Amino acid sequence: VTNRTFTMLKPDAVEKGHIGAILEKISVSGFRIVAMKLTQMTKHDAEAFYAIHKERPFFGELVEYMTRGPIVAAVLEKENAVEDFRTLIGATNPADAAEGTIRKLFANSISENAVHGSDSNDNAAIEGAFHFSGREMF
Ligand code: CMP
Repeated sequence: VTNRTFTMLKPDAVEKGHIGAILEKISVSGFRIVAMKLTQMTKHDAEAFYAIHKERPFFGELVEYMTRGPIVAAVLEKENAVEDFRTLIGATNPADAAEGTIRKLFANSISENAVHGSDSNDNAAIEGAFHFSGREMF
């Protein structure tokens, strides 16, 4: 079944100049770009986007990191998009990520892990709508 996922190329990936290389991997892996933009999250945005993590000890650090510079936000479409994208990016901790995955190639640490991928179809829709209006999805 064709479905959609939501991704962010996080501030560390943008700072290090990895936008092109990561988009190339996404593209050759068969994902169609439905929506995309360079944007920066405010503190309010990040606190809302990551509300599910607000009791975690790393919440403050996560909000600080995700707001420190621009990100690339995108909605991607493919058969089995949510699961296949999580396979492509690899484990949350790059130390545990498989060879060839985006996090293995481009992430430094569990906190600054280069990319986000939605964990369910429902969250993909919520997260996509957080960043894009209907008219910005193609
Ligand atoms: P992601 O899984 O996309 O969304 C939650 C983010 O919190 C995660 O990526 C990391 O950026 C961050 N994160 C997860 N676990 C930790 C941790 N143990 N310490 C610091 N940051 C974390």
